[in-house]
Amino acid sequence: YEKKIAELKSKIKSFPDFPKKGILFWDIFSAISDGTTSTLLQNILVQTVKTKFPQVEAIIGLESRGFLFSFSLAAELGVGCMPVRKKGKLPGDVVSFKYDLEYGSDVLEIQKNTIRPGLKCLIVDDLIATGGSITAAIHLLKSCGANVIGCLTVIELESLNGRKNIPEGVPVHSLIKYD
Ligand code: PRP
Ligand code: MG
Repeated sequence: YEKKIAELKSKIKSFPDFPKKGILFWDIFSAISDGTTSTLLQNILVQTVKTKFPQVEAIIGLESRGFLFSFSLAAELGVGCMPVRKKGKLPGDVVSFKYDLEYGSDVLEIQKNTIRPGLKCLIVDDLIATGGSITAAIHLLKSCGANVIGCLTVIELESLNGRKNIPEGVPVHSLIKYD
């Protein structure tokens, strides 16, 4: 397992000063442009969910890079896949959650009838930085009565300590850590 993780890590490129000066951007797309690495990543993710979150009943992908992993994982595991999207993108009855950003605020939504009370949900995304996106998604899911069993990301930016913002009792697992 550790060897596979090291192999994956070697395939992820970073771009300095993107999207703004001073930000080092870790680009998940650089890993999956290669078919062998895509298969490696998918295998690691499936193995991780089976080991860490075997009780999962639904995979929740965060717009937009989380979608890359939510469908393929859910299909492989034979569980549901539901998106959390920015305001106004989902049809039908939705539940919304408004949260503060550094400047201004944002709203996340999920389709109301797809989340039954107690549903064991795992949130997936490409990366955890400040933890703001995942935290908002947890609040949204909990407001629907979901049982959020954890969060899984490919990358974690440890220096931002996003974990400290995650509500207590929701475990976060990341495959690859950077400072
Ligand atoms: C990025 C990344 C995570 C989030 C992490 O998404 O894909 O979803 O930021 O940051 P946080 O932990 O500080 O919330 P972004 O909002 O850039 O949108 P995208 O996935 O559509 O590219
Ligand atoms: Mg994102």
